[in-house]
Amino acid sequence: MKTQQYFRPTKAMIDLQAIQQNIKNLKKFIRPNVQIIAVVKANAYGHGDVAVAQAALEAGATILAVATPDEALHIRAHFEEPDILILGASPVSFAPIAAQQRIMLTVYASEWVQQAAPLLAKEAEPLQLHIKVDSGMGRIGIRSEQDLLALYQTIESIDNVELNGIFTHFATADEKDTTYFDEQVQFFESCLAVMPKKPLLVHASNTAASLVKDSNLQYDAVRYGISMYGLSPSSYVESILPFALQPAFSLESELVHVKEIKKGESVGYGATYVAPSNMWIGTIPIGYADGVIRKLGGQEVLIDGQRMPIVGRICMDQCMVALPKAYAIGEKVTLIGQQGQNRISIDEWATKLETINYEIPCIITARVPRIYF
Ligand SMILES: Cc1ncc(COP(=O)(O)O)c(C=O)c1O
Repeated sequence: MKTQQYFRPTKAMIDLQAIQQNIKNLKKFIRPNVQIIAVVKANAYGHGDVAVAQAALEAGATILAVATPDEALHIRAHFEEPDILILGASPVSFAPIAAQQRIMLTVYASEWVQQAAPLLAKEAEPLQLHIKVDSGMGRIGIRSEQDLLALYQTIESIDNVELNGIFTHFATADEKDTTYFDEQVQFFESCLAVMPKKPLLVHASNTAASLVKDSNLQYDAVRYGISMYGLSPSSYVESILPFALQPAFSLESELVHVKEIKKGESVGYGATYVAPSNMWIGTIPIGYADGVIRKLGGQEVLIDGQRMPIVGRICMDQCMVALPKAYAIGEKVTLIGQQGQNRISIDEWATKLETINYEIPCIITARVPRIYF
């Protein structure tokens, strides 16, 4: 296969060994026979779905989970064997394609199954379904035992659909206070109790729940997302993690222009940054169209192992950095990652942008190639 050549030095480096190590470490903390569902939705949280899925399967994951039909088809085009589960809603029109492609769908309404049934009549294999229980997330899912039973019976009564799993999702698993979490568990348990027969896969835990909550809640599988990528779901979970996570994502570029400007000269749109003295300015070929959004103005980058601030407004494709001296064109710039003793973490960006670490690799756009090592 021909490797693609990239001419711009801006790239996201993805450490697949870190992803595998994170999964291997997790495996030690889940009960035997609990399957790992690798959550590779949203292009594997911005890391690249195909490469991450491959690494995750090699490290012991057995099922791949995505959010949308299109993500599932993309994964299936690269992987014939593993089970794929769509965690989000799918349109009824996707049902026959899902059956043909062996993609498991999430359902939470009897009407959906009834509407899908005639479309599935000609399919050789039954469509595999997972029932979603809304135990408190308030997103999708059945919200009462009666609705669950009705859905269960609808599935049982239709030939070309099969119930493979039932699951829920916790809203506060990464918090210390377990009051709300416990209520969610209780509702999910009461749903399981009314089911005439439990399906093959009962699953509830994301990484926070699987690592720091009662191991009985691992049921038959855990859905492992953020910590596979080496990030902690919250500072609380980080403080009690049973093992250190290895971040897999770094963001790099190079200086493409270096110049000295005089005291009083300005940099960038709006001429908002005015040099307080004669100084060196470097230009980095990365901007808001790459996901380095304008709110990151003032954020530091690493050059020569030292922190240096972005100055002036971030442009669409470029931004400028204050240098302590002249550096050569081609000098490496690390926007996220390690240089020498210094590290700029995804969490540092998340704090600066007043958001969560999950969002950061997702906002690095498709223009930035993902390079694997
Ligand atoms: C339904 C569902 N399960 C599992 C996960 C993975 O969660 P985490 O990344 O916190 O491990 C997500 C992530 O958003 C999700 O939506």
